[in-house]
Amino acid sequence: MVLLQYGTRPQQNNWLKTTRKIKIKMQSLVDDYYKYFQTFELLLANSTEHQCMKDFIHMTLPDILASIGTGESTLNVMGVGSGSGEIELEILKLLHKKHPDAKVENEVVEPSNIMLNKYKALLSKTPGLDYVTFNWNEMTATEFEIEWKKRKSEKKMHFINMIQMLYYVEDPEATLSFYRSLLHKDGKVLLVLVADESAWARLSKVCDTQVCKEGISQNLTASEIKSFLDSKKIPYKSYKLHCLLDITECFTPGVEGDQLLDLLTEVIEFRKTAPTELKDRVLEFLKCPENNQTVNGRILFDCSNEALLINA
Ligand SMILES: C[S@@+](CC[C@H](N)C(=O)[O-])C[C@H]1O[C@@H](n2cnc3c(N)ncnc32)[C@H](O)[C@@H]1O
Repeated sequence: MVLLQYGTRPQQNNWLKTTRKIKIKMQSLVDDYYKYFQTFELLLANSTEHQCMKDFIHMTLPDILASIGTGESTLNVMGVGSGSGEIELEILKLLHKKHPDAKVENEVVEPSNIMLNKYKALLSKTPGLDYVTFNWNEMTATEFEIEWKKRKSEKKMHFINMIQMLYYVEDPEATLSFYRSLLHKDGKVLLVLVADESAWARLSKVCDTQVCKEGISQNLTASEIKSFLDSKKIPYKSYKLHCLLDITECFTPGVEGDQLLDLLTEVIEFRKTAPTELKDRVLEFLKCPENNQTVNGRILFDCSNEALLINA
């Protein structure tokens, strides 16, 4: 369940400033792996999200991947919230190019069975990955942390990707700290999160509205993690990944438009279940020319991300 908090209409007119909140229970997308998967597919079909990540991987990661695990016969890597594997396989292929003689052991941590099945199907269609051993862990990042501690493994990781997943843990800083503690001395964590300047990050704060599920950090943005890293003097590099999502259909009720709204708010059946006031505010925000651009009659929404490459 999501606790939806929104300002109540006050006695005076400046109701945006009111501090009084009403909490309404709504269902969070991430509680339903099938619906989450459907909207994730919609995101991939209607945005440049994965293309931007692939561009980043091919432009920025080659030198980084070349610099880790030099001369080692086995490279240990991990994906946390690996999803259906498209981005992870791209990283694995590049890693092999840089270390053609090394074997790779990949721990996949992903709680959604639907995502894992899609990952396995993609793997079966992708030739030339026999240098990789996959260990499948159908569990959350927190469950895997407990599992890893039980295993008392001494293994150190050369590369860990945590792409667009830190929103779904209760304590992102503690989770990041745990996974970073698994790094080999030359290892890196690749984190991707929504960029603060993006319209998507602003949407979550629209009109003092917060859609927040207990036990997750849905409104997390890259700057919060950067502040944490800065405060701990942990070295990292940051890269902007500019991407756009076609939201034209949001304004027309129908299956696709409704799913897009669910994706943007991370609430199941947002159009049907959200209070009218909030729904209007969200649609107004999406329509506002400051928050989108129109290209060839399509309305494009800025869903840019920031990648952080974090040292051991
Ligand atoms: C936005 S998708 C990103 C998938 C993949 N990293 C990519 O970029 O293509 C987020 C992924 O995190 C997974 N996830 C959700 N809750 C999680 C948790 N508590 N721990 C780890 N992964 C989680 C979801 O099932 C989903 O596959």
